Amino acid sequence: MIDLSVEIAGIRFKNPVLGASGTFGYGLEFAELIDLNRLGGFCTKGLSIEPLPGNAPPRIVETHGGMLNSIGLQNIGARAFVQEKLPLLRRYDTHVIANVFGFSPDEYLEVIRVLEDSEGVAAYELNISCPNVKKGGMEIGNDPVEAARLTEAVKRLARRPVIVKLSPHVRSIAEIARAVEAAGADALSVINTILGMSVDIYKRRPRLGATMGGLSGPAIKPLAVRMVFEAARAVQIPIIGVGGIATAQDALEFIIAGATAIQVGTANYYDPAATIKIIDGLHAYCDEQKIEQIRPLIGSLEV
Ligand SMILES: Cc1cc2nc3c(=O)[nH]c(=O)nc-3n(C[C@H](O)[C@H](O)[C@H](O)COP(=O)(O)O)c2cc1C
Repeated sequence: MIDLSVEIAGIRFKNPVLGASGTFGYGLEFAELIDLNRLGGFCTKGLSIEPLPGNAPPRIVETHGGMLNSIGLQNIGARAFVQEKLPLLRRYDTHVIANVFGFSPDEYLEVIRVLEDSEGVAAYELNISCPNVKKGGMEIGNDPVEAARLTEAVKRLARRPVIVKLSPHVRSIAEIARAVEAAGADALSVINTILGMSVDIYKRRPRLGATMGGLSGPAIKPLAVRMVFEAARAVQIPIIGVGGIATAQDALEFIIAGATAIQVGTANYYDPAATIKIIDGLHAYCDEQKIEQIRPLIGSLEV
């Protein structure tokens, strides 16, 4: 029997495949399409203290090998998540990671406070890297001092493991990874989307309502692999790789480069069963390679 299980911050995941925040709803949307129990886990849409309507449309544009989004962190708010979604999610045997967001450090803490009182959340993923909001997200994520300060404050409050999701918009991914690790982060997610733009040449207008948005999908995979590799060499804590993963081969690239687990984002849109196919593909690879456990593959890259 092949063992795909991995461990992050004391949590055992039955396999390293997770749904990425913002592309997996609150998980329940996918329960109608796939067997959620098969997943290692998933990250919820970013939760803020108050519900948010998000940005004006159009909010999604297809690009070569990817897409641009400017959803603007639309969500039902942390309290509604706890009341309406969590009780239903507790039925499933998979880890729910709450993706947390605020417009100020205090707002992050408020969201954590709301979630702390409830059962069914395995860990927090702090989004300090969203390119789609004017303040909060990327300003903290770009600055190692700010990122460390927020991580420290959240760690003081949270009973659960804290995963910090890094932005690719940094001078050095190793520097920010080290700063956040020193502040007590239990793991890192690497990376969020990259700020991009697309122009309608006939209307001479931006294709996105918000002018710019986050680029995701296969187009960003090589950048994400490089950043996972650099972050994994810089810190001791586990890295969760994310960016353009659509197949088991993609997932394996990240794992071999240093990721303990991976998240699948944009691929869910064109193939809602992508996560399940990746899990099956990891089994097939281990079988073919005569590997009994996935763990020794983590960071096994030879350079
Ligand atoms: C429509 C959309 C919404 C997203 N919303 C969030 C979010 O709320 N919080 C967050 O941390 N990341 C969010 N992300 C980023 C993804 O979780 C992921 O980091 C990124 O899309 C790269 O992975 P991919 O190329 O597999 O999509 C969002 C991405 C997309 C495409």
